[in-house]
Amino acid sequence: MNHALGSALSTLPFSWYMDPAHHAQELERIWYRDWIYAGRASLWLREGDYRVFTIGTRRVVVLRDAQGSLQAFLDSCRHRGSALCTAEAGRFATGRITCPYHQWSYGLDGALISTPRRPELAGFDPADHGLQRVALACWGGFVFLNLDPAAGHSLDAAFAVEMSGVSSWPLDALHSAHRESHVRAFNWKVFWDNYLECVHCPGVHPQLCDLIPVYGTGQLRLDDAAGVQGSAADVEPRLREGARSWTPDGQCRLPEFADLDPHAIAPGMRFATFVPSVFMVAHRDYVRTVSVRPIDVAHTEVSIEWLVHPDADPAAIDMAHLTDVGRTVVLEDARVSEFAQRGMAARPDGAGVLMPQEYDVRAFQQWVAARMRGDALAAPVWEGDVRVEAG
Ligand code: FES
Ligand SMILES: [Fe+2]
Repeated sequence: MNHALGSALSTLPFSWYMDPAHHAQELERIWYRDWIYAGRASLWLREGDYRVFTIGTRRVVVLRDAQGSLQAFLDSCRHRGSALCTAEAGRFATGRITCPYHQWSYGLDGALISTPRRPELAGFDPADHGLQRVALACWGGFVFLNLDPAAGHSLDAAFAVEMSGVSSWPLDALHSAHRESHVRAFNWKVFWDNYLECVHCPGVHPQLCDLIPVYGTGQLRLDDAAGVQGSAADVEPRLREGARSWTPDGQCRLPEFADLDPHAIAPGMRFATFVPSVFMVAHRDYVRTVSVRPIDVAHTEVSIEWLVHPDADPAAIDMAHLTDVGRTVVLEDARVSEFAQRGMAARPDGAGVLMPQEYDVRAFQQWVAARMRGDALAAPVWEGDVRVEAG
């Protein structure tokens, strides 16, 4: 099926990529309302382990409680609002969270336990002053947060289609082999605009195009070209003949996952996309996540994590073989994304035009526009999506 756009459509206004006031609105209407990826659950191993996760101005402390569950609260004391965490990560070893300002303390369940030097105070009930909870959901060992107290959509409902495509991978059991973050000079939407098309691939990703021949045609799927016919198996992007994974030589050097859905792994990779914060790519021998977090209107943190089979011996992992292709692609994308940001800034009242193969860029930009209008919460609907067809 050909998903190509049939007429010349405008992109989002460039101002949306550089106007701080617009960015503040996007935080409110997208980042503070959607499920946002915060990291693997294994970051919090012991009772009391905590990490602060920052989205826009919102600091969220995520911790493991006495029952072994993960909890999330706004990092703001109920007395006069001080931040509670004095470091970005650590451990509440006493089982208490104590404010550094006037030493109010809270349990790991967020309940206010003690208010030192407080005389009796009419109308003050500590039960009314527990920490403000942030919704947290864990799927496959991936922890997501939602800052909207009235979030009307569960994580599962929001991303059911994406989850189903990778459901045969042992996601819960994966071990983190390596994680790295890069702060780069582009708006977070540039990341997705770029991820959702492959017109740039031949000029930007020579190694990737060698590994996945369809990408070398500038298309995400062979049937993007007008008049191309073929079964799904013929037109989906897949690794070149003989290649088994996204590695420099196309081969696996790690234990491979057993019992993968043959349909899901047939192309050699399976994408799952969780806009606005993360996508993952599942291979025979590893899963890679690429997550984004806006730093400000013109800067985005991009983090990559490589997750491997729990039986993989950490000391024996050939890290360069595992990480080279994924890192190279992310950094090649970051380079042209910075050019995109810089060029839009030179013409701040302009807009671009979409080419036929950029149908998923269109879907993403329409989703952003709908969210800015305040339309109902829903994940983007991808047009020619191998992710949808994976199920
Ligand atoms: S602001 Fe936290 S105890 Fe006063
Ligand atoms: Fe790319």
